[in-house]
Amino acid sequence: MPKSIYVSPENKITIRTATESDWPALQLLDSVGFGFHPSPAVSELTKALYKPEDIILAVDGDLPVGVAIEIDMEFTVPGGRQLPTRGITWVSVAPTHRRRGVLRSMFTALHAHIESTGAPLAALTASEAGIYNRFGYGPATFSEGITLDRRFARFRPEVPDNGGVSIVDVKAASTLLPEIYDRWRLLTPGAQLRPQPLWDHMFADPSEDRDGASGLFFLTHADGYIAYRHTSEGRDSIARIDEFVTITEDAHAALWRTICGLDLVTRIETRQHPADPLRLMLTDYRLARTTTRSDRLWLRIMDVPAALEAREYAADLDTVIKVEDPFLKAGGTFALQVKGGKATCAATDAEPAITMPSDVLSSLYLGEHQAKTFAAAHRLHASDPREIRNFDFAFNAEKPAILGYGF
Ligand SMILES: CC(C)(COP(=O)(O)OP(=O)(O)OC[C@H]1O[C@@H](n2cnc3c(N)ncnc32)[C@H](O)[C@@H]1OP(=O)(O)O)[C@@H](O)C(=O)NCCC(=O)NCCS
Repeated sequence: MPKSIYVSPENKITIRTATESDWPALQLLDSVGFGFHPSPAVSELTKALYKPEDIILAVDGDLPVGVAIEIDMEFTVPGGRQLPTRGITWVSVAPTHRRRGVLRSMFTALHAHIESTGAPLAALTASEAGIYNRFGYGPATFSEGITLDRRFARFRPEVPDNGGVSIVDVKAASTLLPEIYDRWRLLTPGAQLRPQPLWDHMFADPSEDRDGASGLFFLTHADGYIAYRHTSEGRDSIARIDEFVTITEDAHAALWRTICGLDLVTRIETRQHPADPLRLMLTDYRLARTTTRSDRLWLRIMDVPAALEAREYAADLDTVIKVEDPFLKAGGTFALQVKGGKATCAATDAEPAITMPSDVLSSLYLGEHQAKTFAAAHRLHASDPREIRNFDFAFNAEKPAILGYGF
């Protein structure tokens, strides 16, 4: 990021990039914002992942009062292409300076830089869902927290029982998991390239970052893996899955069968895509109970033609969309034609058939939402209901979109 300076006239806050000497103040700001003191290992991980020039600061005099980090990322989109994406993380503003436009000032400077990189997408994960729509971001992937009473889990006879799962130690896991993850993320919309320091931190598995649970256990298959921990609640013994990654249906069934073989475990807790087939594989459809539903990845389309031409589509389409973008200048009216799964998209003067704000198009992009739902919510408008139906047919994605890791 250039050492650009943006001064907000209203609040005299200066926006600048960080330097090495800012780390202690940044760390304190982040700890206050998110309410936890990082372990030494997490502090080390942060420094391994982010360089000071990627960090944008809001300063009041000499005092940092706001921080955000811009990350170079790469996300898979429907059809399997990888798109350069600018991630944003570590967003926080000091409680002494909230609601005075500090975040807006930082985001104005940050997005000017993101525009200059030419990346077609920006991405973040949100602590609260009310903050980011106004900046053009929309929730684009979802997960459900699941709890399964393992003692009653029986698989239906149709579910294959082909084995192929190994119990491996951390040394073997550190070789096997990154390769499986990489194959998986290249096929999975919403998943992203994972930097080595994150793997190193996972396999170092510092005890102070385990939230009171055991060290990691690993189950691997040629096409998938589970990383899980043991913990307890009252008299219940729990296997808490940190990561469950599968490339094939065979690996999915084999790994579920194996983890359900942990006889001394009462419950298995995991997080999965809402359309995961687990429920349908069990004799008792109600056994896997949904405990939470969360939005995971929030996307922002920075370049509408580039992003729409990069993904694949499920049906032909010939429409004109108007994208409203009050925060940046990425909006406009675009002719969108899809033939044989490939799109062409270009600015046009034609009358729009569908109108929506940038955050709504960003939510629709990976195929996890439907335009008709946004229309019913009065957030997307069409000249003719058939336009919405055709849009939904085309934007339907073959594979569910899943965020690779939280950031
Ligand atoms: C969220 C946070 C960064 C906002 O910073 P801020 O400087 O107070 O925000 P601003 O004053 O620049 O507000 C910008 C806009 O967002 C809105 N906004 C800010 N915080 C919001 C919140 N928590 N919920 C809903 N809207 C919010 C403001 O009303 C304002 O709207 P407008 O410009 O359209 O009128 C700050 O409250 C914070 O650090 N929270 C704790 C850490 C956190 O949750 N960070 C986000 C991580 S994803």
